[in-house]
Amino acid sequence: MCGIVGYVGKRKAVPILLEGLKRLEYRGYDSAGIAVLERGGLLFEKTAGKVAFLEKIIKGKKFESGIGIAHTRWATHGEPTDINAHPHLDCKSQIAVVHNGIIENYRSLREVLERKGHKFTSDTDTEVLAHLIEEYYEKDLTEATRIALSQVEGTYGIAVICEDNPDLIVAARHGSPLVIGRGEKENFVASDVSAILRHTNQVVYLEDKEVASVTPERFSITTIDNVEVTPHVQEISWTLDQIEKGGFPHFMLKEIFEQPSTLKNAMRGRLNEKEGTARLNGLNLQYEELHQIDRLIFTACGTSWHAAMIGEYLIEDLSQIPVEVEYASEFRYRSPIVNDGTVVFAISQSGETTDTLAAVKEAKRKGATALGICNVVGSQIARETDGGVYIHAGPEIGVASTKAFTSQIAVLSLLALVLARMRAMSVERGKEMISALKKIPSQVDEILKKDSYIKKIASQYFKKNNFLYLGRGINFPVALEGALKLKEISYIHAEGYPASEMKHGPIALIDENMPAVVIALKDNVYNKVLSNIEEIKARKGKVIAIATEGDSQIEDKVDHVFFIPQTSQQLTPLLSIIPLQLLAYHMAIFRGCDVDQPRNLAKSVTVE
Ligand code: G6P
Repeated sequence: MCGIVGYVGKRKAVPILLEGLKRLEYRGYDSAGIAVLERGGLLFEKTAGKVAFLEKIIKGKKFESGIGIAHTRWATHGEPTDINAHPHLDCKSQIAVVHNGIIENYRSLREVLERKGHKFTSDTDTEVLAHLIEEYYEKDLTEATRIALSQVEGTYGIAVICEDNPDLIVAARHGSPLVIGRGEKENFVASDVSAILRHTNQVVYLEDKEVASVTPERFSITTIDNVEVTPHVQEISWTLDQIEKGGFPHFMLKEIFEQPSTLKNAMRGRLNEKEGTARLNGLNLQYEELHQIDRLIFTACGTSWHAAMIGEYLIEDLSQIPVEVEYASEFRYRSPIVNDGTVVFAISQSGETTDTLAAVKEAKRKGATALGICNVVGSQIARETDGGVYIHAGPEIGVASTKAFTSQIAVLSLLALVLARMRAMSVERGKEMISALKKIPSQVDEILKKDSYIKKIASQYFKKNNFLYLGRGINFPVALEGALKLKEISYIHAEGYPASEMKHGPIALIDENMPAVVIALKDNVYNKVLSNIEEIKARKGKVIAIATEGDSQIEDKVDHVFFIPQTSQQLTPLLSIIPLQLLAYHMAIFRGCDVDQPRNLAKSVTVE
């Protein structure tokens, strides 16, 4: 959601903080701010708008300080204005706080503090933290922060500095990620390792309700109840290249083009060709336990929810285990039925989506085995679950998820294979699936080589304001995902539908101004989808079809056709989504949109 970066050490803090903020901007980008401790005291700058705007304001000002905290915001409480931007300060402007998350009891805390004479200036929940810390501050910033946080309900990742402590950043977390980066005579604080990876790959992930005191020489961690904690330093394997654009104009395009290699990484070491199955050791389940699964629930949000739906088709089709897919935000507040044989899988790229995390906790409370399919190693969902599978897609910076989606599907295919091979699937059929999976990365590469054709189609359609995406069977969720990509980054209204359901409503919208993107592959419903295409054409609708190579029938029936290579029917989503990702990208570019930072969205949603 929002991003935090903090620095304390021998170098000038401001350039390090600004660079860190730029790397974090994908997490939230409607306002930004910075606070440093100069000899003259606490100085700060904050503004609505992107980090580049903050940078302009700061340019020319002489900041010598070796300590500071900074923030890039995705507004929850209070509009994105200069006043509401972080840092927030206490009454005397000597304490500065940056915060990710939501303080749920901020109204009552604010009332109490106002009665005590504290003067508030913003509409944010965060500002109560600055005043609350001030209220308890008697020369020990860590202690004051600890006491303040003990009164807070909600979620937070925070960094705090105070004029009297020119060498100290206090950091704490509960529900919003925070890491400490270890350097040489310097240390860092960040909500996300990408902000500090340029300087260090040695990090300590704070756990919930932990408070850290960070100085240039050392850091120490306690719980909020002041029990000492031994820090566990981890080495991050991500490289700087992975979080940079590598010659591409946007992270999203880079990530789309990374898919041949990210898909290989998702499968690496996991294919058991001899026995026609897969190895997913991270599930931490014995053969017997896997065999006893009689129902699966997949819970997720956004793009990960679409991957979950594809998982449902895959697993029900191949292993005959019933699967339910549920939005995490719904699952957490229902009374889901969880039996002994139910396993709940949380699917999340970031591993920190609040609704998905809450669904995991609810599933565990009800006695389910909860497993994760995550990208970010060591993320909250990965740690909260009993086991799981990492998708190993590397850092995904583009707000619209692309490579994580295909890697999630690859992992779900492996899961389906494992479960199916324990049941009715023969070794031969298992081997066929593995051989099809192995071809997928190069087939994705073939599709990517035809990017210019997609760009040409986009050039003819980018002025349209409504789109329909249709697919059937396992490609119905692909239609949903294609529509989501388009609306997320180009702000064109797009709806995904099962092709045959079109006649029950959306057909009323079809005319020459409402193009339809139809996934019409040579599968068991091919002829039925062709009939749907006829229905669109009969109403003067334009059709862009995604079809199977070698299909000579479709060309005359549609306005444009993009061919994808043949693969097994269950694996087609891994290929059919690629042209749809590219189509969304090019349409957004033609419309002049900022694809990496689409309006109102954020990469990880760490609030409800
Ligand atoms: C946000 C992002 C989406 C993402 C969703 C779930 O809404 O903008 O791209 O699909 O969160 O995120 P997760 O990290 O849990 O997969």
